[in-house]
Amino acid sequence: MNNLLSVLGLILFVNISALAATVNDNIVKSTKLFHSTAHSTTTYHVSGVDDGTYDILISPNEFDQLSHLSVSLKESGEQLPYTWLNGDSYVQPYNFKRLAVQLPPNTPQLTLVLSISLNNPSTPLPSQLTQDDLAYSLSFKTYTHVVTPYHTNEMRVKVRAPTSKIHRYGMTHDDSKTTKNGGSMVYGPWMDVAPYSIPTDHIEILYEAAGPRLKYEVSERSAQVSHWGNVVSFRDDIVVRNNGPSLKGQFTRLTHQAQTFLNVLPTNIATMLSVRLPALSEEVFFVDQIGNVTTSHYKQGDGHSSHSLLQLKPRYPLMGGWKYSFSIGWENSLRFAAKLARDGTTRLSIPFSSTPENVAVDRHTTRIILPEGAQVHSVYVPFEVDVQYETTTSYLDTIGRNTVVLSKHNTSDAHNGDVTIVYSLSLFNALRKPLAVAAVAFALFSAATLLRRINTRI
Ligand SMILES: *[C@@H]1O[C@H](CO)[C@@H](O)[C@H](O)[C@H]1NC(C)=O
Ligand SMILES: *[C@@H]1O[C@H](CO)[C@@H](O)[C@H](O)[C@H]1NC(C)=O
Repeated sequence: MNNLLSVLGLILFVNISALAATVNDNIVKSTKLFHSTAHSTTTYHVSGVDDGTYDILISPNEFDQLSHLSVSLKESGEQLPYTWLNGDSYVQPYNFKRLAVQLPPNTPQLTLVLSISLNNPSTPLPSQLTQDDLAYSLSFKTYTHVVTPYHTNEMRVKVRAPTSKIHRYGMTHDDSKTTKNGGSMVYGPWMDVAPYSIPTDHIEILYEAAGPRLKYEVSERSAQVSHWGNVVSFRDDIVVRNNGPSLKGQFTRLTHQAQTFLNVLPTNIATMLSVRLPALSEEVFFVDQIGNVTTSHYKQGDGHSSHSLLQLKPRYPLMGGWKYSFSIGWENSLRFAAKLARDGTTRLSIPFSSTPENVAVDRHTTRIILPEGAQVHSVYVPFEVDVQYETTTSYLDTIGRNTVVLSKHNTSDAHNGDVTIVYSLSLFNALRKPLAVAAVAFALFSAATLLRRINTRI
């Protein structure tokens, strides 16, 4: 019994000393605010790690607004696996979430980068505006410290707003530790911060918005692959909403025209939406319920630029609280999206989404419709998603097309990366479509011939 106790005691001691050994030499957290999203990067310079894991604490606010999260090594950019842990007596009162990051072996000293993207991090003020109100503000609340389970020698928290019109940026207990330069605020440096030090309250940054706060209530992509046509055809069906202060009172087109003419449009109005499409996209279209919208502008990127730019002008200006449904589509040559491997499989890369950086998405779905008869070997997505399989049947199909359906809640431009699908397609299946077309053509030809013969007899 005594022995057991001492063993337990030893284990406990080792654990505690292992935890106590990890020190943050320096932490810098930088948050960049957009109107509907925020991207934040926290760099942890860590030393004395000897148990192979590093714990990160995420505040309840950030956890609720979380759209994307990744942890990587600064030097190599290598992504590190992590797991969420439940319950922690130290941080429980404040409801911080704990993330255990798996470190590569034998790395007592390293620099970790936590990247998070938040959706709707700021609240619009006031909640309603008339058509004559030109400006509105956004309120963002954050902690002036990074909360961590380890001792920290030095830390700073930086926030950058999309404008330099900052109405309020929260003073910390020490004025000299709060600096503001244009739209950038820095809190700290805080020296020798004890583990689990939680500042008593958030500070509020209140800034004047420079544009509308947009969100996609619906965002559905279909990407249809055709080996026969040598293209991938994309279609995005979108419902966009101006999620800023809602319009109070009547909308008058006359006021809008006068404001447009005088170039004094309110910031809370969306008249244009820019979407980045893959470079060399062709056959671009933009339609809504009424039909083709011709007031769009497309600038095709060449082979050197990484994207093309599609500027969409909705049929009507999007006032606060208003929605607009539309679809855009384009084609990319299969040669840029797919590669044939030695083993005969095809490796297809398709962007999961093309969300503009300033748009928060409630839920995004991407349907990848493979050629008839294609068999899926693997699906790789660089973040967690729901994966489902369907069969899509379209014109002249005989057995239908295997379709990979990927969906995720609360996405943003952080999810615009490629999805990779490896599939195989036998020669017979690759020829299924032309054979089917040939069969139909032959049948029509035979029928026509038959009819002519019948006709001549009468
Ligand atoms: C998406 O965000 C909303 C609002 O913050 C939240 O209520 C919801 O739980 C989130 N959904 C998922 C699946 O994380
Ligand atoms: C819509 O635009 C496309 C591409 O410009 C064109 O091919 C098509 O005929 C147009 N449709 C209508 C109904 O105008």
